[in-house]
Amino acid sequence: MPLKTRAASLRVRLVNREDAAALVPLFEAFYGTYFGEPVLEGTVARRLRQVESFETVVVAEGGGRLVGFASLRVTPSLDPTPYAEMTELFVEADSRRLGVASRLWKYLEGLAKEQGATHMVVLTGRMNTEAQTFYRNAGYEQYAVAMRKSLQTPGTP
Ligand SMILES: CC(C)(COP(=O)(O)OP(=O)(O)OC[C@H]1O[C@@H](n2cnc3c(N)ncnc32)[C@H](O)[C@@H]1OP(=O)(O)O)[C@@H](O)C(=O)NCCC(=O)NCCS
Repeated sequence: MPLKTRAASLRVRLVNREDAAALVPLFEAFYGTYFGEPVLEGTVARRLRQVESFETVVVAEGGGRLVGFASLRVTPSLDPTPYAEMTELFVEADSRRLGVASRLWKYLEGLAKEQGATHMVVLTGRMNTEAQTFYRNAGYEQYAVAMRKSLQTPGTP
């Protein structure tokens, strides 16, 4: 089905367990070797189960297939309002620049607001200029520097 047709029929919804097989190519393309194990229906299903109490995963469906996904974490905080973070966002290569990611973040922002969040945080790679342009276009601005440290003992795999 042509991309434009799929974009017109696009629907964003909560993920369900039956989506695991359809998510395999998307997870493979997004996480690749960072997934840490083969990206198979069973492993995707297990990862979805693993996060279901903590994260809201949503998918974009067009023309009977999944073309993107995103994830939201809203956690209580010592701040007056909960902390909301969009932790994942991916659209398959053939479906980009059709507004799919825009639909995904708007959906997640709606869910975050419903849960009392007043801001949404996203972390993206320093070199990922495409994603940075996308987020700026969506109204996000740089407000902090993210730092991290390995907790593994040197020499352990
Ligand atoms: C970044 C990403 C999610 C954008 O998805 P998308 O569905 O193509 O985004 P949209 O079509 O909703 O784009 C909305 C606007 O953002 C901007 N934008 C999106 N992708 C862009 C790009 N590659 N370069 C420049 N601007 C871009 C444009 O202003 C675009 O509007 P326009 O197409 O009318 O000009 C997608 O490219 C992707 O999955 N990249 C790989 C994964 C990734 O980097 N995820 C973010 C990790 S934190």
